[in-house]
Amino acid sequence: MHLRGSMRINDSGHLEIGGCDTVELARRFGTPLYVFDELEIRRRCRSYKEALERYYPHGNIIYAGKAFLTQAMCRIIQDEGMYLDVVSGGELFTALSAGFPAERVFFHGNNKSQEEIAYGIKSGVHRFVVDNLHELEMLNEEATRNATTVDVLIRVAPGVEVDTHSYMRTGQMDSKFGFGIDDGRALEAIRAIRRSSHLRLRGLHAHIGSQIFELESYEMTTRLMVEFIDRLRTDNGVDIEELNMGGGLGIRYSADDTPSTIEAFVETVAGALKVECRSKDLPLPRLYFEPGRSIVGEAGTTLYTIGGSKEIPGVRKYIFVDGGMADNPRVALYQAEYEAMVANKALQAPSDLVTVAGKCCESGDILIWDINLPPCAPGDILAVFATGAYNYSMASNYNRLTRPAAVLVCDGEADLIVRRESFSDLVQHDCIPERLRLLASDCHGLSDTPLRI
Ligand code: LLP
Repeated sequence: MHLRGSMRINDSGHLEIGGCDTVELARRFGTPLYVFDELEIRRRCRSYKEALERYYPHGNIIYAGKAFLTQAMCRIIQDEGMYLDVVSGGELFTALSAGFPAERVFFHGNNKSQEEIAYGIKSGVHRFVVDNLHELEMLNEEATRNATTVDVLIRVAPGVEVDTHSYMRTGQMDSKFGFGIDDGRALEAIRAIRRSSHLRLRGLHAHIGSQIFELESYEMTTRLMVEFIDRLRTDNGVDIEELNMGGGLGIRYSADDTPSTIEAFVETVAGALKVECRSKDLPLPRLYFEPGRSIVGEAGTTLYTIGGSKEIPGVRKYIFVDGGMADNPRVALYQAEYEAMVANKALQAPSDLVTVAGKCCESGDILIWDINLPPCAPGDILAVFATGAYNYSMASNYNRLTRPAAVLVCDGEADLIVRRESFSDLVQHDCIPERLRLLASDCHGLSDTPLRI
């Protein structure tokens, strides 16, 4: 079994993360439970920063908050001296309410509302990453209204199609994100910025997709970006000071995954950027990376309690857990594959082939198809690995399941960073119109009389 970060098997034969026995964690905080390995998050932040320091000291790392964003996570990112990418007013609010400095925030999103733009400007975010002309117009109006100048990056779709799940490709021509280079839309946007006295063009942004293993696509993207930067300079007299190359580095979910290292990723892009700029006699831009998954994905583990099981003779054996697609929709959405271990039987041989299913009313609510586990019994704790990215952030209340708690573990300490939702949390936004209240009290609850509408 591939143990990640600070994981180890302790003397009781239990899985331990961050010096905490996961069986104890499950007992103390309940399940399902997201467990985040703080040292592993920080180690990955540092790998990015150190690689950049080594290969391209002129730049910084922006954490893509969409992967996993809570106030505690913002504190870690701030502590690691990184920037933060937000894509909505809600993400911006989360960051600011945690005390994260607005001047280290990049504001993304392909359909920012007027309110979100106004919020970003009033808060003083570092950069707006502009996706389309409508946004540019609103940004210009709002900046003018506030008598301020807003620094922007233009998001481009470089026309690179990467090898990943089609839902995670974003750099191709036919994408909802960004301005095309070859069709002249990026240039049109840049001209619009130059005409405005309230917008200042700082640079370009490209994010070609997510869960990417091969680095050639990044090399190619870097080359295309530099060609564009060169054209902007020679044909249009525009200087580009900043290049944000997005995120997307893949991680290991299952044994078939062979991700590149953070260092190789940074070295490849930095190397290509230096070579291309030198060959065109261009000054080196400030370089940013924007990773999410490769910071937090493998640092997260979800603990579940095993309940019932069902053996369909000659077909398959299902074991059921107390969560599922509501806390991890990635299997249903992207056919994602996960590795897992029975946390309280970590030393027992995996002898039974089973399928792990959740408790939602959907046949697609499967967490792992076909995995070998030791014989399981109700009450056992299942640890599913590499669930730190896009699990909590995409979790739902489907079937009115309460969203799980999250804990941060480090050196034997476990701290709650997200409280488990309660049943009353589930109804806190529900409203009962007055006429339905009256009806309910008239009928004293149950009644055979049909509702008159
Ligand atoms: N920058 C931008 C503009 C992005 O759209 C994203 C991810 C990132 C950075 C970070 O990419 P990462 O390093 O995490 O690959 N829900 C999907 C992933 C969607 C990615 C969205 N954008 C999943 O669960 O796999």
